[in-house]
Amino acid sequence: MKTRLFPCLLLTTLVLPLAALAAPRDEIAGQYAAAAKAASPAFSGFSAARGEKLHFTKFGTGKAETPACTSCHADRPRSAGRTPAGKPIEALAVSVTPARYSDPAKVEKWFKRNCNDVLGRECTPLEKGDWLAYMITQ
Ligand code: HEC
Repeated sequence: MKTRLFPCLLLTTLVLPLAALAAPRDEIAGQYAAAAKAASPAFSGFSAARGEKLHFTKFGTGKAETPACTSCHADRPRSAGRTPAGKPIEALAVSVTPARYSDPAKVEKWFKRNCNDVLGRECTPLEKGDWLAYMITQ
């Protein structure tokens, strides 16, 4: 019994902190999924491939100095980025920055601000969910 309990406890201490961050991420994705479904009954799930495309597209419909998400967030999700003012930004990939996308208010605040800067409008729930699906797998 004792020999079985130890690996079990070890697993719990290792897995719980990661699970604690994954739970809010699932909740955020769930909220975007519900909103995407409400906007279009044909919605059939998020696509990391569409999210990747959104991330790298040069829109040019927002601010001239930030045509794409990559204007601040580096060319690769696993690399650190930089704001136009030179402030460093930690990598967006969850594999590099595990605390990413665990606070719904923070996620919404930055989607709102950054989509307006890049696209000149807010992102739709479908775009947000696709983009998150991409970053979570990076
Ligand atoms: C003008 C620079 C800039 C651009 C362009 C930009 N971002 Fe960001 N983004 C930031 C900063 C600064 C933060 C906050 C610092 C941080 O989270 O490390 C941030 C944070 C975020 C977050 C919150 C991350 C978290 O941990 O919860 C999301 C989501 C996000 N950005 C999405 C986008 C998307 C999508 C685009 C393209 C449509 C984009 N960003 C373009 C500067 C930018």
